[in-house]
Amino acid sequence: MKLVIVGSGYVGLVTGACFSEFGYKTICVDKDQDRINQLNSGVCPFYEPGMEDLLKKHLKNTKLLSFSTSLSESIHKADIVFITVGTPSRRLEDDADLKYVWAVAEEISHNIKKYCLVVTKSTVPVGTSNEIKRIIEKTVPKENFDVVSNPEFLREGSAINDFMRPDRVVIGTDNKKSENIMRELYRPLYLRETPIFVTSIESSEIIKYASNSFLATKISFINEVSDLCEVVGANVQDVSDAMGIDQRIGPKFLNAGPGYGGSCFPKDVKAFISTAKKFDTNLSIINAVHESNKKRVIKIVDKIEKNTKKNSSLTMLGLSFKPNTDDIRESTSIKIANLLNEKGYQIKCYDPEAMENVKNEKYNFHFYNTAIEACRDTNAIIIGTEWNEFRALNLIDIGKIVNEKIIFDLRNIYNKDEVIKIGYKYYGTGK
Ligand SMILES: NC(=O)c1ccc[n+]([C@@H]2O[C@H](COP(=O)([O-])OP(=O)(O)OC[C@H]3O[C@@H](n4cnc5c(N)ncnc54)[C@H](O)[C@@H]3O)[C@@H](O)[C@H]2O)c1
Repeated sequence: MKLVIVGSGYVGLVTGACFSEFGYKTICVDKDQDRINQLNSGVCPFYEPGMEDLLKKHLKNTKLLSFSTSLSESIHKADIVFITVGTPSRRLEDDADLKYVWAVAEEISHNIKKYCLVVTKSTVPVGTSNEIKRIIEKTVPKENFDVVSNPEFLREGSAINDFMRPDRVVIGTDNKKSENIMRELYRPLYLRETPIFVTSIESSEIIKYASNSFLATKISFINEVSDLCEVVGANVQDVSDAMGIDQRIGPKFLNAGPGYGGSCFPKDVKAFISTAKKFDTNLSIINAVHESNKKRVIKIVDKIEKNTKKNSSLTMLGLSFKPNTDDIRESTSIKIANLLNEKGYQIKCYDPEAMENVKNEKYNFHFYNTAIEACRDTNAIIIGTEWNEFRALNLIDIGKIVNEKIIFDLRNIYNKDEVIKIGYKYYGTGK
């Protein structure tokens, strides 16, 4: 089976490299020439553990993976073409901006010459795959293509493992022929006993948004519980540990923190609410989650303001939206640091992988090459992202170079009593 993946970002590149690992000949296409040049020389344009090794293996050794800027030159070799372009929020709107998806659908429609299965892997609102079908149908005979929905559930930071060992594969289809092709494609996973859910196209599109919105709900739920814990002197970690052990609840996504961010949850929650509105349906719980999460950053900034000197220096450790990625889209660390900076604080910062991306965004931050350097002469340390290297900082040594020994542990990675014992003022989340 020969595959073409359109959009070589986090999802497209991981998908392409992992399908090569399954043994399929795969061409990843992107309209960004610089990105394709980088990929052709074996360099991964973003930080994802294991990605560069897999890229080099299939680009240079097996030669199963190749890259191109031309969809028209690649598509005639394809049995399956995947759409993996971005679906960000529309500017100043909540719904998903589908312009990249429509552009790819148009391009596909002018280039299909023999039967080809078109797979929507981008996260798209219900109805989108059928609209893609209508676009292609204008120029391609019905018997020469089908469209299926196959949402992706990988997480940045563990993307390769998530793709190779997913909890499930979802295939949304309206006919047996494309179901069979997709089952054949995912046969290597089926042999590993991965559950495969074949649903209608509409259900498949909703499964992705409902899953992300549910996880965002869990996060916002425990965040609000943590606010109550702080007021009454309870410890949210004890609460979530004892809740999470209940198999009906589960421990994941039950860690209190600065709110959800990243390239998916914020935009997907908004798009889900917006899609439901179009169909006159009120997703009131998810709406409340969105509102609660928006207030989270302000609440944390208030807490930091109340407990630090005005216009002093603060250190933000961690800028990516989560550890093990350099992705800074909707990063809560950056939102918090930026708001504090607007209120007059000097921001010193350090991140193991995301600093270059932040520098390109022109924030008024001071960048340092190590966590320790970023802490020198600071009035408070804020742990914004729980990178492993922040879990074992030598707080005794750091205590000698700071102006004031104050820690805001937004991710609850330190033991409160131990940190207080060595002379710090400690502010965790919900404890
Ligand atoms: N990032 C994640 O963790 C993740 C996880 C699951 C699902 N998703 C979904 O997958 C989709 C892709 O997300 P991403 O994070 O990989 O996006 P991304 O922004 O990293 O990558 C998108 C790529 O598509 C390219 N592109 C845009 N238009 C194109 C065109 N016409 N032809 C060729 N290339 C084009 C861009 O240049 C870019 O490189 C989104 O819908 C997202 O919601 C993302």
